[in-house]
Amino acid sequence: MTVGIDAISFFTPEVAIDLVELAKVRGVDPDKYTIGIGQVIQSVVPKSQDSVSMAANAANFILANKDEEYLNSIDGIYFASESGIDNSKSGAVILKQILNLKSNIRTIELKQACYGGTFGLISAFNYVTLNPDKKILVVASDIARYGLKTAGEVTQGAGAIAMIVSSNPTIAEYNFDSVYKSEDLMDFWRPIYSDTAFVDGKYSQDVYKEFFSELWNKYNKPIDDFTSIAFHLPFSKMGNKALDQVLNDDNKDKWHQKLEIAKMYSKQVGNLYTGSVYLALLSILENASLQANSNVAIFSFGSGAEAELFSIKIKADYKNGIFGDTKNLLNNRRLLDIATYESIFLSHNFNGSNELMTNEFDHAKFQLREIKDNQRIYS
Ligand code: HMG
Repeated sequence: MTVGIDAISFFTPEVAIDLVELAKVRGVDPDKYTIGIGQVIQSVVPKSQDSVSMAANAANFILANKDEEYLNSIDGIYFASESGIDNSKSGAVILKQILNLKSNIRTIELKQACYGGTFGLISAFNYVTLNPDKKILVVASDIARYGLKTAGEVTQGAGAIAMIVSSNPTIAEYNFDSVYKSEDLMDFWRPIYSDTAFVDGKYSQDVYKEFFSELWNKYNKPIDDFTSIAFHLPFSKMGNKALDQVLNDDNKDKWHQKLEIAKMYSKQVGNLYTGSVYLALLSILENASLQANSNVAIFSFGSGAEAELFSIKIKADYKNGIFGDTKNLLNNRRLLDIATYESIFLSHNFNGSNELMTNEFDHAKFQLREIKDNQRIYS
């Protein structure tokens, strides 16, 4: 029996900004954003979406295509987010309700910055190993917010990745080869009173690079054992900065080309924090041509800081496990002018006052409809 990823899907809101436009308004050379940082388009979150509704939209792309037997075998929801909507109640239990999954399952919200989704995934692999007839829905959903006119603004973004973990999976099996590390560092954090992140931008990149370098050495496998590497991509150039540490003149071009494929979607969305590394994986699954039994390495990094490096072995019919139409979702977004983006950014309700949401910028199946008596109501 093997255990791994049976299905994957992605959701991001339908509005976005062109970062060349943002650069012009901010008085920055657009090349800094598109080449120096490596980002092109950034998702914008309308008030009718939050981490829970985005997660529901991503998961629904998979679940709407599954029969009752499959749905009934889902035994838990592991919801990873660092932009959760409540300090006590788990977004996972709300998700269960929205997605109409049965009651006798476990629901839990996980947080460790951008690493949370990976903990969910690995825990799900372990759970299904012990319970091969069960499945786990792992959802990683976030809104990356640094603030208008900050250095981090160009690295914002949002979206959700949903994955089903099962035995005898369709996409790829876990190789049970993880190496990991954690250390209490202040490179990026968001105190409970703040709706935007605090970050030491340069230091955070150094920590990311050091963690990759250390884990790569510990992992101790030749790079050509892998057909691709999915990196956590807070911005797409970060993947190059980490990978370049382990390349040489002979393999640099080949691996840069492979990395370009992994970066394709992230460049168009921005950072989705805990889902980002799995958006890179989705980009590889959809845009590279992968041989059965080839291995894809995954480097997950979360500030604060924790990282894990592991690999998955691709199955022959892996394309059958991809749900939703990511290319269509990305290509059909509406680009907003910068003034509209700024007013949406500032309009998000972080004080819990009663509010009825409009859906001027949103046609997604699941939306945040209302905040009433300190409760979020979804439709
Ligand atoms: P900055 O300080 O404005 O940018 O912010 P810079 O001055 O460092 O320039 C960026 C790059 O553009 C540089 O290249 C410049 O040379 C280049 P580099 O030296 O880095 O290779 N550049 C140009 N290129 C072409 N044409 C030009 C031009 N001008 C400059 N004209 C920074 C950049 C990333 C620091 C900022 O956006 C930031 O703080 N972002 C947030 C933090 C972040 O993403 N950190 C990444 C590692 S931490 C992580 O991954 C975890 C995270 O996802 C959170 C979590 O775990 O929850 C963030």
